[in-house]
Amino acid sequence: MVTDVSRDPVRIGVVGLNYWGPNLARNVDRLPGAELTWCCDLDDKILARMGAQFPDARTTTELDDVLADDSVDAVIVATSVPTHYLLGKRVLEAGKHAFIEKPMAVTARDAEDLVRTAEAQGRQLMVGHLLEYHPAVRKMKQLLDDGELGRIFYVYSNRLNLGKVRPDENALWSLGPHDISVINYLTGEEPEEVSARGECYLQQGVEDVVFGYIKYPSGMTGHLQVSWLDPHKTRKITVVGSDKMAVFDDMDADRKITIYDKSAVVPQYQSYGEYVTLRFGDIHIPHIANDEPLKLEVEHFVECVRDNRSPLSDGRDGLNVVRVLEAMERSLRDGGRPVRTADLTAG
Ligand SMILES: NC(=O)c1ccc[n+]([C@@H]2O[C@H](COP(=O)([O-])OP(=O)(O)OC[C@H]3O[C@@H](n4cnc5c(N)ncnc54)[C@H](O)[C@@H]3O)[C@@H](O)[C@H]2O)c1
Repeated sequence: MVTDVSRDPVRIGVVGLNYWGPNLARNVDRLPGAELTWCCDLDDKILARMGAQFPDARTTTELDDVLADDSVDAVIVATSVPTHYLLGKRVLEAGKHAFIEKPMAVTARDAEDLVRTAEAQGRQLMVGHLLEYHPAVRKMKQLLDDGELGRIFYVYSNRLNLGKVRPDENALWSLGPHDISVINYLTGEEPEEVSARGECYLQQGVEDVVFGYIKYPSGMTGHLQVSWLDPHKTRKITVVGSDKMAVFDDMDADRKITIYDKSAVVPQYQSYGEYVTLRFGDIHIPHIANDEPLKLEVEHFVECVRDNRSPLSDGRDGLNVVRVLEAMERSLRDGGRPVRTADLTAG
């Protein structure tokens, strides 16, 4: 995607600049079609650092200063997760376009409210589901849409390593949003029912390991394994189709995607002596562009604000991820009982 620099730059403020926010601010600052106009954080030390790094941007501890500036088109919210809903809502109600880091909110009810607010205000709402902008994930999606893998049976992800152990959120909320967003994106459906089991080994009431299951209306399923208590650093998503299978391995620098021409063939007419046969074909490793997902994500947001069009990871997408997280959390608390996503906000 090439940003059209012949038009006025999109003017953006970033709120929340501790760990992740500076990466977003840097990308906005470097983008020819955008202008970083405000850096906002409650912490003065952080603001002093941002002021030195981005001398053209103004700094403030008050989001209201950013919202009162009529020249600001959009605000990026990169604060801690529990603050996303209220800050995002203030941004949209002030008539600005909003980019909210993942997960968009902590309840489906709040996420729905953000979607409704964006619609009512006629503003774009985008969620920072970074992996949807990863060239390898886009390639996987293209393979699925082109029918190369056949019908999708199931998608599963493994996001494992040792640390970072958090006291205030479990491994599901900490590690799961990216995988859930990719699984939803690849299947192209809205999740219908989920269940999850997990175990707390290090801290009481905080799961270190979670296994989740997502059922989609067509019968496709998604499976998720997240852990911060594992010897392997693994970031893998596997798609099993009726014709081929594909693996996205983000830890492999030269082999991001591997397509296996393997399948199980069911005989057309079942009769005595006819069994499912296994087909083993070639292995193919397509070339994947080395573009930085974060740069592509920020570029996409700027283009969507400029053209007033809906982003790939829009509010609805953010809502579907929050639905899965909230339903899995309920299931975890209830011994793995299946929870329907529609029941979260009903009544
Ligand atoms: N896409 C990714 O790969 C990725 C990676 C890391 C973090 N994240 C997301 O980025 C967000 C931020 O993560 P982090 O680790 O930097 O969080 P953090 O808690 O370390 O920092 C949050 C910052 O927000 C500021 N803040 C909180 N409330 C504020 C308010 N009302 N006004 C102004 N500033 C306020 C705090 O002072 C703090 O500096 C989270 O949503 C996280 O999930 C995304």
